Amino acid sequence: MSQPISDAFWMPFTANRDFKQAPRMIKSASGMMLTTNDGREVIDATAGLWCVNAGHGRREIADAVHEQLMTLDYSSIFNFAHDLGFAYAERLVEHTPTGLDHVFFANSGSEAVDTALKIAMQYWNARGEGQRKRFISRQKGYHGVNFGGVAMSGLTNNHQPFGQWLMVDHLRHTLDIERNAFSQGLPRYGAEWADELEELLEFHGAETVAAVIIEPIVGAGGVIPPPEGYLAKIRAICDKYSVLLIFDEVITGWGRAGSAFAAVEFGVTPDMITSAKGITNASVPLSAVFVNDEIYQRCMQGAKSAVELYHGYTYSCHPVACAAGMATLDIYEKEGLLTRASEPGGIGEYWQRALHSLADIEQVIDVRNYGLMGAIQLRGDGTKGGQVMQQLWESGVMVRGLGDSIAMSPPLIVEEPHIDLIVKKVRKVLHESL
Ligand SMILES: Cc1ncc(COP(=O)(O)O)c(C=O)c1O
Repeated sequence: MSQPISDAFWMPFTANRDFKQAPRMIKSASGMMLTTNDGREVIDATAGLWCVNAGHGRREIADAVHEQLMTLDYSSIFNFAHDLGFAYAERLVEHTPTGLDHVFFANSGSEAVDTALKIAMQYWNARGEGQRKRFISRQKGYHGVNFGGVAMSGLTNNHQPFGQWLMVDHLRHTLDIERNAFSQGLPRYGAEWADELEELLEFHGAETVAAVIIEPIVGAGGVIPPPEGYLAKIRAICDKYSVLLIFDEVITGWGRAGSAFAAVEFGVTPDMITSAKGITNASVPLSAVFVNDEIYQRCMQGAKSAVELYHGYTYSCHPVACAAGMATLDIYEKEGLLTRASEPGGIGEYWQRALHSLADIEQVIDVRNYGLMGAIQLRGDGTKGGQVMQQLWESGVMVRGLGDSIAMSPPLIVEEPHIDLIVKKVRKVLHESL
């Protein structure tokens, strides 16, 4: 018998009243598939929430977690440590862009973002430029739900109700359906929007700005790959004005974009990267901020107290999460998942072709994709994505509804028949429903 749906559970980022009238309940998961409470099989076209990159129910991770729980379940990470933490940090930075060789651990993407903002401030404190407290982020950006990330958010509903507790200005987003509709991979037009960063830095005074934070590919804002050349321009402007650049790679990290990080994929190296989700295949919460040597060394040397950064979480570097992360890296490396989406003639190209085959549907006004991410943009009033998500759920596909688009990011183990099935069902639902 199923558990009664009650108001004891206040669900996150969910229309609770609607959901509780018509719940979508999942009982188990394996590989690409979810099983609902009523025994239906649903294909997971979102990898959970852009995070189960190696697919569901990986025994290697479960075994590592079990063993770790029985060896060292927990110990303080303030003033004490365990071998696994150091080993895992070394292992992680083998995958980061050259120069980003230091890791600060947290537990969620939101915490990683707020940690990166604080590290940026601490860096400038250590350099004697503590007046740099302002940040620049971008419209349509999502940087989690803690107060730092909410201030950075470029999504109105996440930002407006909670106030502006940090000084931040927002760059224009780069979604331009008029010029770039149906771009395959990176859109051609829009690199010039990066120039607005220069205007904002001049306007506020670059000497007041700590860092720029952007997602290299916007995720929750609607899957928006950067225009060709845009990120390199952002990097060049940050260099010109000596402002730190943070890439929020909570979604784009760990193979989603066809490389370990989008920074590697696009050949643009930020000063910090935030990472979460796929880092442990979403099995145990863990996140990380990868920091370059300049920031790390300055913070070490310029600190005014023995503790260089008054920041950290009870569960930073939790041994069980580290064990899950290690086992996840084993899978990624063994199965070549971090670069699978960018193999020439491979699954990423198949995904691109399949998504763009939906362009002939009248209501589809744009298709965007990169790596194993994609969005279908529908003509609508802002609610189409949610409607289509529900209909697809009923027909056996889990997607994410975002405004008038549906976003998809299947596990990186996806095969051609899965993609065929997803696209076939999307086509059918769009034909029937709109
Ligand atoms: C780019 C980005 N940053 C931060 C976050 C927040 O991560 P979490 O939900 O783990 O706090 C997300 C979550 O989707 C994200 O997409």
